Amino acid sequence: MWFLLLACFFLLLLYYTFKHLKYWQSKGIPGPTPLPLVGNIGPGIVGIKTVSEVLQDIYLKYEDCPFVGIYRMTKPCILLRDPELVKNVLIKDFQYFLNNDVNIDKKVDPLLARNPFVLKGEEWKKTRQAATPNFATGKIKSVFPLAVNVTKDMVEYLEKQKSAAVNAKDMFIMYNCDVVAVCGFGSDGNSFKDPNAQFVNLARTFLTPGSLQAVKLGVSLLLPNLVTVKLAPKAFDDGVISLTEQTLKYRQENNVNRNDIFDIISKIPSASVIDKAAHIANLIIDGFETSSTSMTFIIYELASNQACQKELRKEINTVLEKNQGELSYESVQDMVYLDACIKETMRMHPPVGHLSKMCTETYTLTSTGNEYKNMSVTLDKGTPVIIPILGLHMDPKLFPSPEKYMPERFLDKSEAAKYVFMPFGNGPRMCLGNRFAMMQLKVGITELVRNFEVTLNEKTRQPIKYVPFHFLLYPKGGVWINCKKIDL
Ligand code: HEM
Repeated sequence: MWFLLLACFFLLLLYYTFKHLKYWQSKGIPGPTPLPLVGNIGPGIVGIKTVSEVLQDIYLKYEDCPFVGIYRMTKPCILLRDPELVKNVLIKDFQYFLNNDVNIDKKVDPLLARNPFVLKGEEWKKTRQAATPNFATGKIKSVFPLAVNVTKDMVEYLEKQKSAAVNAKDMFIMYNCDVVAVCGFGSDGNSFKDPNAQFVNLARTFLTPGSLQAVKLGVSLLLPNLVTVKLAPKAFDDGVISLTEQTLKYRQENNVNRNDIFDIISKIPSASVIDKAAHIANLIIDGFETSSTSMTFIIYELASNQACQKELRKEINTVLEKNQGELSYESVQDMVYLDACIKETMRMHPPVGHLSKMCTETYTLTSTGNEYKNMSVTLDKGTPVIIPILGLHMDPKLFPSPEKYMPERFLDKSEAAKYVFMPFGNGPRMCLGNRFAMMQLKVGITELVRNFEVTLNEKTRQPIKYVPFHFLLYPKGGVWINCKKIDL
């Protein structure tokens, strides 16, 4: 009896999945043959590759197609290839793709659900508007010296390590947490000196690569409508709410006006404590994980490409000599090679390997580009549209010899790369903290390369493989470096 029921259930499941898996075929849209249940992302589900790499493989295979019909498990999604269509979805026809394909319940995750990346429609617009002044150029300029100050602790920490291998990601987490603490709250994060420092521990409660937490976040992006489990640990929510309440109380009672990011957040009209705490949570979540992952990749590439590291050190020294040895917001603008090294790393290893946008109204994609087949498809409301960032960045037609680390390609500011190089996304929903992030990256890498000759320690696995089931691209086994002090 049980066997019969199980067999019926299995047959029904197969019928249901096969029926769904004919969606693109019935519209005449090319795409890889899906498998029941896993669709086209099987290798991502069983952990052979990250989902971004699976999407990259599909992207590279359908060379002459402007878009490809795929199945994220049983969900039909369209994967864009033609840069012109990417531009239309992210910028020109943004109103049809206003929301990210992610669902987090406010009742379950009160802070994470208020992150602009998660919010939808009008609520997204209002929250993004309220958070924008935190990342304005003037604000970045004013907090720049605070970030420079944090590098002193980082240099001191590295000097103490002597010949020991340093876990780059751990170090950059400490650096970025301290930068966020000082720029956001005017408080000393103290991560390099105190292993139990409050701020870095709070950030770590949210995420450790390879942890169950990281897997849950990855799965929630794959199954946005099915997963309603709590994503942010309770300890994180409680810690952030208590930090917000304490800081609000302290500043009110002592009439503190620091003109820092917390100051702007505390003055948002009609925002509740939870709304304010959500802004703080965003700063912590967004401010340390992506930036420290990017810095880990940057130092990996600079340690693997010693000629580039030397060239960068030469530029840093030349620019700083002109500025009496001082690293200022203005002097960093003159470091064009630094900018190129960072961009080239983010091309090869974009921490966010793909984006998934939700089509909120019926929309017709039409490609007329010479390089692609003339094709058209009308997308139903509710169809996820995938932007394969990693695929675009590793396309030899867009970036010749994509596997090679060549910062020079970013010295030539060609228009062609404008809509295909997008480590921070693009359009009205582009990363809100991109200028803040570039400041974190530039200040930290400048001081590291200026003070140390960095080589890869043998503990680093080569070539880099990405951790499966992680919601960002992250190097498996971490990046381990040796830092030899340079006498300045
Ligand atoms: C190198 C570091 C970073 C990378 C690679 C990165 C990348 C991204 C990407 C790809 C998106 C999605 C954009 C889109 O949908 O088009 C995003 C969104 C966002 N990022 Fe970042 N990010 C970084 C650092 C930061 C920092 C430091 C902050 C703030 C402290 C931040 C805040 C945000 C916010 C609030 C959003 C949501 C924007 C919206 O939907 O309106 N990010 N980021």
